[in-house]
Order: sequence, then C-alpha cells, then structure tokens
Amino acid sequence: MKRVVTLTVNGEQRQALAEPRVTLLELLRDGLGLTGSKEGCGDGNCGACTVLLNGRPVNSCLVLAVEVDGSDVFTIEGLARSGALHPLQQAFIDHGGLQCGFCTPGLVMVAYALLQENPHPTEQEVRMAIAGNLCRCTGYDKVVRAVMAVG
Ligand code: FES
Ligand code: FES
Repeated sequence: MKRVVTLTVNGEQRQALAEPRVTLLELLRDGLGLTGSKEGCGDGNCGACTVLLNGRPVNSCLVLAVEVDGSDVFTIEGLARSGALHPLQQAFIDHGGLQCGFCTPGLVMVAYALLQENPHPTEQEVRMAIAGNLCRCTGYDKVVRAVMAVG
C-alpha cells in the first residue's frame, strides 16, 4: 500500500506517494521529477545516485523512501543558485572533469560533502572521498583537479 513520504528537498518541503519498496532514487526521479541523480547500477556499486541525506552522502538507490520520511535531502539540482552554477560545477567544466557526464552528479555531490567537512582537502583526501564513485571516461585525474581547484 502506498504511503505519503514527506521530505525537505533542496530546502523545500515535498511530498509524494511511495510503495514500501520504492527507493529514494526512484522517488526523487519518478515521484518528484528530479532526474539529475542517475541510476547506474541500482545496487550500491557506482555512486551515480549519490545525494546528501541529512548532510551525509548516500547511495540513494539503497535507501527506501518510506524509511527516510521526514528527512532532509540535497540533490544536484539544489547546487546552482539563481541560474549560476555552483563553483564546483564550474570547476568540473573548467578542468575537464566530465565527459559523458553520467557519473558527474554523484561525483559533484560527494565532492560537495567533502568540501563542507574539509574545505581544503589534500589530493589523497579527495581521492578517498570519490573512491566509491565510478567513472568510465575521465580517468579521475581531472575530477581530482577540479575538486582541488575549489578546495
Ligand atoms: S545507482 Fe546507486 S550506487 Fe549505482
Ligand atoms: S564522465 Fe562518463 S562516466 Fe564519468
């Protein structure tokens, strides 16, 4: 039976109906129309679905929506302000940190979470932070450079 799930998403209260088996990723994409978070694997291995849940990065494909009723969710759609890209998004562009872009929302969100906690990370810290996010295209060096440029 469907239940109403209420979330604060990117600062706004949102509600959607969800079956108990629906994931947070499905709720965001199909219930709320926020398709920036991607489904690469659906089983916690790629990080493309990363969002911040109560301030912490999570694989939203592994989280049941009904279990996080009442939570705060921050997605890639929340980063740009008044039409201007977040500095991290701009740095990914400037440093060639994306090619096909499928992994990029997840990488940007883990990098954002890292910089919130540690505004000036070392290269090693950046590499550790993004270790759970797979990218087939960039070889990661340009991603690391983009994050270091903001940190
Ligand atoms: S889609 Fe969630 S980790 Fe791959
Ligand atoms: S830019 Fe293509 S998978 Fe990362």
